[in-house]
Formats: sequence, C-alpha cells, structure tokens
Amino acid sequence: MTEKKKLTESLKNLDAFSALEKIIGVYGNRAVFSTSFSIEDQVITDMLFKITTQPNIFTLDTGRLHEATYKTIELTREHYKINIKIFFPDFHKVEEMTGKYGVNLFYKSVELRKYCCKVRKLEPLERALRDAKIWITGLRREQSITRSDAELVEYDNLHGVIKVNPLYNWSEAEVWDYIRTHNVPYNSLYDKGYGSIGCEPCTRAIHPGEDVRAGRWWWEHPETKECGLHLKQQEN
Ligand code: ADX
Ligand code: SF4
Repeated sequence: MTEKKKLTESLKNLDAFSALEKIIGVYGNRAVFSTSFSIEDQVITDMLFKITTQPNIFTLDTGRLHEATYKTIELTREHYKINIKIFFPDFHKVEEMTGKYGVNLFYKSVELRKYCCKVRKLEPLERALRDAKIWITGLRREQSITRSDAELVEYDNLHGVIKVNPLYNWSEAEVWDYIRTHNVPYNSLYDKGYGSIGCEPCTRAIHPGEDVRAGRWWWEHPETKECGLHLKQQEN
C-alpha cells in the first residue's frame, strides 16, 4: 500500500483537529503548513498551535499582498507567539519579468498572469516544500468548481509530497463559526466584502450572492482561476 493510501486509511473518520494531531504526531516538522492568512488558514493555525508549540508554518510573500494581509501576518505572529517562515520571490526573476512586461503584466493576458504567479508564488513554493513530506493547506471543496473534488489526502507529484486538506469538506459557515468561537484573529478585508484574498492587484471585494472566489482574477473565466499552487495531480 502506498504511503498516501495508508495515511488516507488512518485519517478516515477523524475530524480536522484529530487528523492534524495525528499528522504532527507521525511526521513532526516534516509536515509543513502553507498559510495565506485566509479564514481557513487561520483556523488551521489555531489548531496547530493547540497541538504543538512549534508548528512548521510558512507563507509566500509575493511582494504584492494587501497592506491588511501584512497586518494579519504580524497580528498572527504576535497572537500565537509563533515563528512563520516568509518565502520571497527571486529578485532576478522579478526584475527580468517586470523589465520585459511591466509591473502589472497580469492584466494583459492569462499567460502573463500565470507567468507572474509562477515567479512570485510557484518558485518560492518549490523552495518551501523542499524538505517536506506532508503539505497542509486550507483548501475547501466549496471554494470553486476547480476544487469541488478536493480530498482530505491527495498526492502532489510535482513536489513529491502528500497534500492534506483538513477543511476539505467544511462549509464557509463552519469556518466562521470556528473563528468566532475561538476568537481567532482574521484579515480585516473580510469585513469589507472580500470573500477570498490573494495579491492586492488581483483581488476585489465580492457582491452579495457572488461566489467566494469571484473576486480573484475577476477579469478571467472561472476555469482558469488557479495560480498553479493547486493544480490537479496524478494518483499515487
Ligand atoms: S490560490 O491558489 O487561489 O492562491 P487560495 O488563496 O484559495 O489559493 O488558498 C488555498 C490554499 O493555498 C491556502 O489555504 C494555503 O494553504 C495556500 N496558499 C495560497 N496562497 C498562499 C500564500 N501566499 N502563501 C502560502 N500559502 C498559500
Ligand atoms: Fe502576480 Fe496577481 Fe499572481 Fe499575485 S495573484 S502572483 S500579483 S498574477
């Protein structure tokens, strides 16, 4: 049986907290959590903090985040007194890209938008996952059509890691309920109508009734709206 299948078996029927507890117990610091400081990620940070005093957490600072997100990073570090590793893009690659296509290249075409995500997110993600065995994320099925078949345990063969999505089957209401019950700090942009928060130039607030991710790369079709962090991977 593959490691992914074994893990799927052992996490079956566990709630999100117990699944995380088990993973940290088995893999320790080789289980790494990527946070964008979304409400989902804040729930996972809160759970990890209750499981271990030194969770292995990182974020990808693209250099284009909202000021409110930078404030949330600081708020979270202070609230939990935890270290969060910050991965930043390679400046040579950013200079080459912006020199050729301008600083706001993402509005010009889907290809250029993906190029920017590659330089600012995917390459730093590769470095962040280099020594990892398990990659914990805050993905939820409900978030978009591209995520409707997300599982608790997946295999990411691009990075050679087992990916665990502890909140894969949570509703947005359940996430908010956890945030309020446990007094978890969150990004103030949610109170200004944002449903999902990425880089500042590529995110807008949503209108009532719109999908939570409608404000991400809002000028593109829903099918293209992934930055490449979470592309579908082959089975293992
Ligand atoms: S994205 O692919 O469209 O950017 P989204 O913002 O929904 O993803 O977040 C889904 C999950 O991807 C988060 O729960 C987090 O684990 C990871 N993630 C997204 N953006 C970042 C980031 N900037 N830094 C670290 N992890 C991130
Ligand atoms: Fe670049 Fe926008 Fe992708 Fe951020 S979300 S990396 S600014 S294209």
